[in-house]
Amino acid sequence: MNQPSTDAAARPTGPTGPAEPILQAVGLVKRYGSVTALAGADLELYPGEILAVIGDNGAGKSSLIKALSGAVVPDAGQILVEGRPVRLPTPIAAREAGIETVHQSLAVSPSLDIATNLFLGRELRRPGVLGSVFRMLDRARMRSEAARHLSELGITTIQNPNQAVETLSGGQRQAVAVARAAAFGNKVVIMDEPTAALGVRESRAVLDLILKVRDSGLPVILISHNMPHVFEVADRVHVQRLGRRIATLAPSGCSMSDAVAVMTGALDPAELPEEALAPGAL
Ligand SMILES: Nc1ncnc2c1ncn2[C@@H]1O[C@H](COP(=O)(O)OP(=O)(O)OP(=O)(O)O)[C@@H](O)[C@H]1O
Ligand SMILES: [Mg+2]
Repeated sequence: MNQPSTDAAARPTGPTGPAEPILQAVGLVKRYGSVTALAGADLELYPGEILAVIGDNGAGKSSLIKALSGAVVPDAGQILVEGRPVRLPTPIAAREAGIETVHQSLAVSPSLDIATNLFLGRELRRPGVLGSVFRMLDRARMRSEAARHLSELGITTIQNPNQAVETLSGGQRQAVAVARAAAFGNKVVIMDEPTAALGVRESRAVLDLILKVRDSGLPVILISHNMPHVFEVADRVHVQRLGRRIATLAPSGCSMSDAVAVMTGALDPAELPEEALAPGAL
């Protein structure tokens, strides 16, 4: 098993010295019968970064993200949030730990409006007994908060939070899902293939949104097969292969074809020049 690097000098540095990972996975194992989806997978996400996760089909990317978002429970290994071991037996537990996930199959309800979608499962109630006893929803506050979240993220193409999500374009729907994650994730936002189904313009808008989420202070894990997107926005690139991380690349120091070669096993990461590897990498 690959131990995470303990070389403090090699880690990304924060304002007060070497940064601690906000989210860390150590030696995660997940088996489905005879199939090993995760074979001792490690991951570190540092404050202020976009970490891309790339890997071939079946490399264990979704399994890793499911473990980090409480959708599956690993058979072995540990997950730490800000250095503290956590158990994430359910998606709710992950949310409570500050981890919000935008799944590839968008969990938005098309017939409901944007504000309702944003607050789905976390509805705001009216103040006093109307809310606490009669469970009445505070629709006005949800609408105004939804408008605020959208404008904070610069989502200007959506003008009316009362609009039903089914009337939005694919990119706008994705934007609503990202806005929801950014609004409620207080530590980490994870996005699984957010641009896979989108056109050029819509992808552009979602990539800009991802950069904004990072710049607002929330680190992002981005799973993507799209190398140009990965190389444009990622600060570091985690390469998953055969159920484990085999390298973390520095996009500024390596080419897309090198990344693909490492991903497919055609290139041993040890053969890459030093600048191709992200700090604390192998
Ligand atoms: N529920 C399951 N039951 C059985 N096998 C599974 C299950 N989920 C995943 N696997 C297997 O685990 C391995 C890793 O799958 P995973 O979905 O994590 O890969 P991935 O990297 O996300 O691939 P892709 O790029 O195709 O989405 C695969 O061999 C897959 O068939
Ligand atoms: Mg997958």
